[in-house]
Amino acid sequence: MSPIPKGTQADDTESPSVPASLKQHPKDGAARLRLERDAEFIEIGLGWVHGTYEEVFPRAAPLLSPSEAKLLTNLEFPRRRESYLLGRYAAKRGLLLLLNEPDGSRISVFSGAFDQPLVEYPSQRGVSITITHTQGLALGLAFPVGHPMGIDVERKDASRLAILVAQMTSAERAWAETSGLEEVTCATMLWTMKEALAKALTTGLMSPWEIYATGEWRCIGEGIWESRFLNFAQYRAVTWMADDAILSLALPRNSLLSPDALQVVATALRG
Ligand SMILES: CC(C)(COP(=O)(O)OP(=O)(O)OC[C@H]1O[C@@H](n2cnc3c(N)ncnc32)[C@H](O)[C@@H]1OP(=O)(O)O)[C@@H](O)C(=O)NCCC(=O)NCCS
Repeated sequence: MSPIPKGTQADDTESPSVPASLKQHPKDGAARLRLERDAEFIEIGLGWVHGTYEEVFPRAAPLLSPSEAKLLTNLEFPRRRESYLLGRYAAKRGLLLLLNEPDGSRISVFSGAFDQPLVEYPSQRGVSITITHTQGLALGLAFPVGHPMGIDVERKDASRLAILVAQMTSAERAWAETSGLEEVTCATMLWTMKEALAKALTTGLMSPWEIYATGEWRCIGEGIWESRFLNFAQYRAVTWMADDAILSLALPRNSLLSPDALQVVATALRG
């Protein structure tokens, strides 16, 4: 993993007080990031993991709460077992950093009425989590409950292009043609931006897709893009592109990520 730039705090795994289960692994990471908003700072905790169920299980199992461990045991399908384990592990890493809590099993991430992830932790501090997973990769972002956010990651998959394009508005299609981006890259970016917003809103994709329409797309760094939402002016999206995966974050429009924080997320995505 590349070094974490100044202004953000990488995994504090060098500290002797951190249990062995949290020690840094080349395929894991966590970083405390700061968002600037109205001259104040908001701390968030990003956790990520790349790997298979078998690779990750020995490191993740000690961080599961008893209820999470039981749920994992009851999951029937291997693909879901992997996404659940990786997602909970990435989430725990982000939460542990944000909460300064060394024991992952004291935190439980459970599902709400709309499958949205909710945090149970013996503290008054209002913390929430957003989780995303795709084959062999998961990210979890812990944030203050009053500052809603959502993340979504997708592998680029040309065989899904028709589905992705069918969900684009005519303005998005017109922009895609002039964006200079490969068609599947552009379509996947827009899809993840919308899914990220749907998670921030906790609607999931049960609402008409058009309401998540994007606009004012612009490149803000190498492989990093930003857009607005036409019907949700209070949010914006930031997208990171890696060779085969694309990650979007939906966040309150006026909350700013520093250039260093943008690079940390790019590192997390690449692994
Ligand atoms: C939310 C949704 C967009 C996720 O899309 P995806 O690309 O398949 O999956 P991702 O890996 O990116 O994200 C999955 C994570 O999103 C989170 N999530 C699920 N539903 C969510 C919601 N309504 N709001 C916020 N986050 C949600 C969960 O943490 C889930 O991981 P987990 O099940 O391991 O906890 C999609 O599953 C959806 O639309 N679900 C509908 C949810 C719903 O309305 N359910 C009610 C019962 S019918």
